[in-house]
Amino acid sequence: MSSDTPGKAEGKQRSLPPVLSKAPPAAMVIFGASGDLTARKILPALARLADRGVLDDGFTVIGVARTTWSDEEFRTQVAEATPDGGPKWKALVERFKYIAGEYDHPDTFDQLKSHLDEADRIDGTDGNRIYYLATIPSVFGLVAKALSTHGCVGPDNDERFMRVVVEKPYGRDLESAIALDEEMHAAFEEMQIYRIDHYMGKETVQNVLALRFSNAIFEPIWNRRYIEQVQVTVAEELGVEHRGGFYETAGALRDIVQNHVMQVLALTLMESPTSTDADRIRDEKVKLLQAIDIPTPDEAVDKSVRGQYSAGTIDGKAIIGYRQEEDVAPDSQTETYLALRLRVENWRWAGVPIYVRTGKRLPARVTEVALTFRQVPFLLFDHRTSRDLRPNTLILRIQPDEGISLEFGAKVPGEKFHIRSVAMDFSYAEAFAGAEAADGYERLIHDAMVGDATLFIRSDEVQQAWRIVDPYLQAWSEPGAGLHLYPAGSWGPHMADLLVERSGNEWRNPVIDLELSGGRLTEFPQ
Ligand code: BG6
Repeated sequence: MSSDTPGKAEGKQRSLPPVLSKAPPAAMVIFGASGDLTARKILPALARLADRGVLDDGFTVIGVARTTWSDEEFRTQVAEATPDGGPKWKALVERFKYIAGEYDHPDTFDQLKSHLDEADRIDGTDGNRIYYLATIPSVFGLVAKALSTHGCVGPDNDERFMRVVVEKPYGRDLESAIALDEEMHAAFEEMQIYRIDHYMGKETVQNVLALRFSNAIFEPIWNRRYIEQVQVTVAEELGVEHRGGFYETAGALRDIVQNHVMQVLALTLMESPTSTDADRIRDEKVKLLQAIDIPTPDEAVDKSVRGQYSAGTIDGKAIIGYRQEEDVAPDSQTETYLALRLRVENWRWAGVPIYVRTGKRLPARVTEVALTFRQVPFLLFDHRTSRDLRPNTLILRIQPDEGISLEFGAKVPGEKFHIRSVAMDFSYAEAFAGAEAADGYERLIHDAMVGDATLFIRSDEVQQAWRIVDPYLQAWSEPGAGLHLYPAGSWGPHMADLLVERSGNEWRNPVIDLELSGGRLTEFPQ
């Protein structure tokens, strides 16, 4: 946190070696192989893993999708998606196979079965399988069932493993998530199911655990006695891009809050796990989620503000409104912004408001958790000379400019006792020079390969997160449910300010803090 961090004392920081262990041989079957996610996230992550020497020589990919590509065309697409791939990756790609077929057609799975047998014989994949479901969610259950009926899955044993990686969204609400679980559990055991939330792969999200449980100074004050409020912000500058069709069926609650926000909240607010074992950490996350108050639909209306971006300006560029985006209905009621006021009902957090906001087309891309501490019981200094003093705030900056800062009051040099807030900063980029801020996929795919489920979401976590958000979905499905427009480039609808002002608080402006913090003691504007 201070300029005395061990890394700094050792001069210009260590460059981080690749710290991922070598993965065992395996065939990865990517369903949805011609899709956007495969090209943008999965293949680049695999290419980086290959070039870092993490992938085994007995690794291969079998792509499955409806697009009618040949093996050769698939390999060309793979090469285009991974222009930076090095020789190790290129050598592996040579053996990749592709199956063009429907997800509900037996032919697809007959072919898959014979490709997998061939991969074991020729490529040395040793019977290990990772099925990656990167398709539209409506076919997840269908694919799991077909894999099972075609003899492509079975319980793990000492000789081989069979795992399935499932993308989000996992269900559309509690009921559909439970139904999907039933379908998945008919083919796979829970320990074989790896539900991805790419936020869990972010180093800064994992660092929440390190910060809380490897330092003596934070835990004693990490509770209602010292913390007055918590704010979680997931702000994006981007709009829905080319995903209007998908986003129309999702909205910010399903797209960000049910998964990413709940995961970040769980790690920030949970009790200490008894070990780093995957299930011990997930047990604590579930307990925290269980303590989040579930409102009635009426209360949900009162505790939330939904917004949708209209035309505006970001960085001087004109931006169209959400309803003008491709594949979006001209009268769409989908929220691209959401603010919530949550409560955690347990001894540690009772009475501490937890504010959450997320939105597209906001002024900046910032994800952070800010914990604001209570004011001193009696302020010694004249309020006129301490008007620039803000309450102590600890900010966990998940992205960009990954780091942690602590705001506190300091005396401005001079005759008068003028107090102002300053910030003490820890920056990942400075402390760990050379470490890339990967997007999470590389780490998560690696973990699925080596069988470490710690960063994946267990069935009970997913269901509990849906239980929390379901009342909002119900409330908003009523005719006339509020939706407030906000101009692109603003911090969301005015009503969201009122949501926090009602309890005497206000939203932080993460941009001011971000611009002013440069890894050193920084002053805030008057
Ligand atoms: C995805 C959402 O899960 O997360 C996207 O579907 C969103 O809508 C993205 O843009 C944000 O991820 P990141 O890593 O850029 O914060």
